[in-house]
Amino acid sequence: MQIHSTIASLRAALAGAGRVAFVPTMGNLHEGHIALMRQAGPLGDCVVASLFVNRLQFGPKEDFDTYPRTFEADCAKMAAAGVAHLFAPDEREMYPAPQAYHVQPDPVQADILEGEFRPGFFRGVATVVMKLFSIVQPQVAVFGKKDYQQLMVIRNMVRELNLPIGIVPGETVRAEDGLALSSRNGYLSTAERAEAPRLHRALDAVRQAIRAGERDLARLEQGAMAELRASGWIPQYVAVRKQLDLQLPAAHDSGLVVLGAALLGSTRLIDNLEV
Ligand code: PAJ
Repeated sequence: MQIHSTIASLRAALAGAGRVAFVPTMGNLHEGHIALMRQAGPLGDCVVASLFVNRLQFGPKEDFDTYPRTFEADCAKMAAAGVAHLFAPDEREMYPAPQAYHVQPDPVQADILEGEFRPGFFRGVATVVMKLFSIVQPQVAVFGKKDYQQLMVIRNMVRELNLPIGIVPGETVRAEDGLALSSRNGYLSTAERAEAPRLHRALDAVRQAIRAGERDLARLEQGAMAELRASGWIPQYVAVRKQLDLQLPAAHDSGLVVLGAALLGSTRLIDNLEV
């Protein structure tokens, strides 16, 4: 695996490399990231990954400074997963001057759910992903369903801005007890880690109820939030939405997804399940 810290070096290496399948990350890699890289393998002639902790998508009180940085271990995992080129720029390479042009996603899709609790998050994500797409120029890029709203925002950005890139979703990889793998799981204490799968169980209970014919979605959402609260969590939202655009479903709509975000101690966890 070749490691490129500059755009010039990456571009030189990719000239003539054929169709690129791209997996952007912020590092501290786990099996969820690795699954996306393996999935990317057959989608192109070579797999390019990026590792960049993007300051633009962190709020002023969020964990940019403490976000886990594990470069050496990440490189070993990516090489083993078949990544041919890693783009790992420093902040000056990505933002030589303060970023003055931004990709502003549609507020209807980006100011709800995650966007309500993380103002500016999707603007930061869309802007850096647009820059990464311009730098890497992939034909295909793989994004995890773990970040369901992010996947939707990127898909819509690509469509509305006519980028010639196929966006491919990757399934959420979970621990055996159901907890979705996340770089932020490392913040959990032993007791919190034992408690953490409750978020997945609560969303699963909502999913089962919908499958069984329950149609009072607000009652299901509130029930899940109450259960989390009773176990010491601070839930931010549990919401049943349409998979396609994450808007409120009408009666008898199918193709739903249950999404949730909650604080366990000081760690913010998110998860979702398609119904
Ligand atoms: P990061 O959180 O590092 O995630 C990188 C990719 O891995 C995303 O597509 C995410 O959805 C996926 N992923 C994370 N956990 C997963 C899991 N348990 N199963 C499957 N896929 C999983 O998402 C970002 O970085 C950033 O916002 C980024 C897109 C890189 C822009 O900065």
